[in-house]
Amino acid sequence: MAKFQFLAAIISAAFTPLVDAVSSQTYTWKNVKIGGGGGFVPGIVFNPTQKGLAFARTDIGGAYKLNADDTWTPLLDFADDSRWNYWGVDALATDPVQPNRLYLATGMYTNSWDPSNGQILVSTDTGATFTPSKLPFKVGGNMPGRGMGERLAIDPNSNGILYFGARSGNGLWKSTDFGVTWAKVSSFTSPGTYRPDPTDTSGYNNDIIGISWVTFDKTSGSSGSPTPRIFVGVASNGTNNVFVSNNAGNTWSAVPGQNTQFFPHKGVLSPAEKVLYVSYSDGAGPYDGTAGAVYKYNITSGVWTNVTPVSGSDLYFGFGGVAVDLQKPGTVMVAALNSWWPDGQIFRSTDSGTTWSPLWSWQSYPTMNKFYTYSDSLAPWLGPNYVDTTPGDKQIGWMMEALVIDPFDSNHWLYGTGATLYGGHDLLKWDTTHNVTISSLADGIEETSIQGLISPPTGPPLISAVGDIGGFSHTSLTVAPKTGFINPTWATTADVDFAGNKPTNIVRIGTGDSSTGKQVALSTDSGATWNQDYGAADNVQGGKVAFSADGDTVLWRTNGNGVQVSQYTNAFVTVPSLPSTAAIASDKRNNSIFYGAAGSSFYLSTDGGKTFVVKGSLGASTAPVKIVVNPGVTGDVWVSTDVGLFHSTNSGTSFTAISGITQAWAIALGAPATSTGYPAVFAVANIGGIGYFRSDDGGVNWVKINDAAHGFGSASASVLTADPRIYGRVYIGTNGRGIFYGDAVGSAPPSTTMTTATPTTTTTTTSNSPTTTTTKTTTTTTKTTTTTSGAPTSTGAQVPAYGQCGGTGWTGGTHCVSGYTCTYSNPYYSQCVPS
Ligand SMILES: *[C@@H]1O[C@H](CO)[C@@H](O)[C@H](O)[C@H]1NC(C)=O
Ligand SMILES: *[C@@H]1O[C@H](CO)[C@@H](O)[C@H](O)[C@H]1NC(C)=O
Ligand SMILES: *[C@@H]1O[C@H](CO)[C@@H](O)[C@H](O)[C@H]1NC(C)=O
Ligand SMILES: *[C@@H]1O[C@H](CO)[C@@H](O)[C@H](O)[C@H]1NC(C)=O
Repeated sequence: MAKFQFLAAIISAAFTPLVDAVSSQTYTWKNVKIGGGGGFVPGIVFNPTQKGLAFARTDIGGAYKLNADDTWTPLLDFADDSRWNYWGVDALATDPVQPNRLYLATGMYTNSWDPSNGQILVSTDTGATFTPSKLPFKVGGNMPGRGMGERLAIDPNSNGILYFGARSGNGLWKSTDFGVTWAKVSSFTSPGTYRPDPTDTSGYNNDIIGISWVTFDKTSGSSGSPTPRIFVGVASNGTNNVFVSNNAGNTWSAVPGQNTQFFPHKGVLSPAEKVLYVSYSDGAGPYDGTAGAVYKYNITSGVWTNVTPVSGSDLYFGFGGVAVDLQKPGTVMVAALNSWWPDGQIFRSTDSGTTWSPLWSWQSYPTMNKFYTYSDSLAPWLGPNYVDTTPGDKQIGWMMEALVIDPFDSNHWLYGTGATLYGGHDLLKWDTTHNVTISSLADGIEETSIQGLISPPTGPPLISAVGDIGGFSHTSLTVAPKTGFINPTWATTADVDFAGNKPTNIVRIGTGDSSTGKQVALSTDSGATWNQDYGAADNVQGGKVAFSADGDTVLWRTNGNGVQVSQYTNAFVTVPSLPSTAAIASDKRNNSIFYGAAGSSFYLSTDGGKTFVVKGSLGASTAPVKIVVNPGVTGDVWVSTDVGLFHSTNSGTSFTAISGITQAWAIALGAPATSTGYPAVFAVANIGGIGYFRSDDGGVNWVKINDAAHGFGSASASVLTADPRIYGRVYIGTNGRGIFYGDAVGSAPPSTTMTTATPTTTTTTTSNSPTTTTTKTTTTTTKTTTTTSGAPTSTGAQVPAYGQCGGTGWTGGTHCVSGYTCTYSNPYYSQCVPS
């Protein structure tokens, strides 16, 4: 539901290229298919001149181009760590004169979460490549009001002219050279006043939303000359908020007779009618709206007419998306911005808003007439089992700011929601049988914030913890999952782990509160079904989780309640000996052993996580990020930190600092290059530059595996796991662009090209144990266990009605027969009771 607002940490590491750069290896990169969407699609724009050309923008996952087969192609996957804010697209404009020209206003936040100013990305090849034009202020693609728009517009009569409505009180900006340079329009003096929450000290909800849309009236001018009439909508309330220039932007005035009660979300021109349709809501969106209106402004007569489709108690929402059918002047559609219950709503008029028909109506409460047929075959998880915090099984959607009709095809329409993009190809049936097809049509728009990934040695290749849409057991990488995690159902899964010796045993943690249940869940069937862990206290949530090797102990570094541990689903108890900020991991072989890291200290527990002792030192580290453990060798651990990557083969007694790495974030171990080799080590790291790297020899030599077309956004926000079954395969979870999987093409480049950059003489940085030998001695012991350790645990027989299904020391089945739920009675006994 809510777009996950991940605060990407800011990368300040010095970019110091080594003389001999690390070699690269070609990888193929594909999205793990969730099936489209996963997040808010605030804008969809059709080019009015070139048939079939359309683009969609997202708030954290970049922009996309529509293909003829209804799929979408991502345009901003090149955005790397230094350009992660490109994935926040606050507005887009496609050129009506030269359709090859595309402009994107990008930047993620206007507050300190994003240190960089925004930019207009200029493309002259319909989005294949872009050149950035830096703006002298920030752009907020993931800020409040991001569904209003479009705040970027191209003059349809003189397409070198563009206007951009800024946030933060920065006013209206203009370019006269195809978006290369920009200057403030000093004659426009209403930069907006509305701040959703002036008391917010973060800079997020207290920033001025600003100018929300710019609409040219093409009919007021002629080709080759600047369009005289330009409308501008501003996020202000209780004062004029729709302005017009009749002299190509030289002077501006409020449009007389306007409604000032609400915020204007869209201003859409119907050129044949010479009418401007304006949707209003009592908030700036995207989550709010309890009242609103739709007005049309007759440009010829200067008369505003209230054409709001509903009134009285039926008007419990504001309005977002507005579409006009350019083939059928007078046909117009508007979307309720948020009709949270019972479902979203869309209205259609064929008489310029005089009368409207809805997408659904009450037959006799609570039965709905649904004037549509719904298909989620491309993303079945959106269906009745869809993971959302709001009750019910919404089909139509919410946060509906984007609504468009193909200018060349009256049957083809698209709209965006908070979770995906829908549309269809039989829209004219609305006017005949009043029964249209609504299909999930976001194929290719993978827009999720990934929080955790695991690739256990048995079962599905990938299990994901995902922001806003829960997470998935990915039995296929190329077919969308049928369902997300349910029972318990949380909007955001914060992390996930598996038990090394019993790898179908999985733990996940959520970020809700007591209203959505205790935030720990256990599975014994690779995430297909789950049981709530009743050992968790209410109102404890988030953080990171580690599952002991035999799957009976959960170590949980909570978000705000310290580190806690529970064995046999007993009540979680605090672990005072591990700092509340610690990175944590479980040993994958020895059930008693857990690891922790905080500051420069590495911690070890040999008593099942009850107590930790400082074992060794991580040099000058102040912020360990991630611990990964060789799945075959107890005590063989890797730790990424703000000063580099550390490796220990003695449970952290001593560490080797990997040479040439100045900072590392996510790390992972995967299948080795040879059957007797050391697991492949993957790292998001700074090795002469920030990138994604693999080492086949325990960290001595590294190859870069990402390329100029695959940047994966913020390095610090990326999540990694590597496949223990397929050498070279790595999964990258991004903050905004879903999950990618990469496979190596050909063999790795010869290591001789790299040895100059990463000398094999490694440094030891431990306080209590001076020199260690290098890491390679462990190589023969690894990996062989991973295929044999998959012996299924207690997944087999289902527990009969009223049978025991859990408790201290219980080794029997944990799944009840259909109709029964395994329910906690006490620490020693759980029972199958009727669901
Ligand atoms: C909008 O303006 C009206 C009238 O001044 C006021 O009652 C209302 O609270 C305002 N809404 C917001 C969200 O500020
Ligand atoms: C707009 O107003 C003019 C002048 O009154 C009128 O002739 C025209 O029909 C109106 N247009 C629409 C679409 O109502
Ligand atoms: C719309 O069409 C579908 C498929 O033919 C049908 O199941 C549904 O009942 C129809 N809805 C209405 C309101 O007639
Ligand atoms: C697991 O580690 C503990 C603590 O070091 C040790 O006492 C125990 O023998 C180990 N268990 C196995 C099976 O190796």
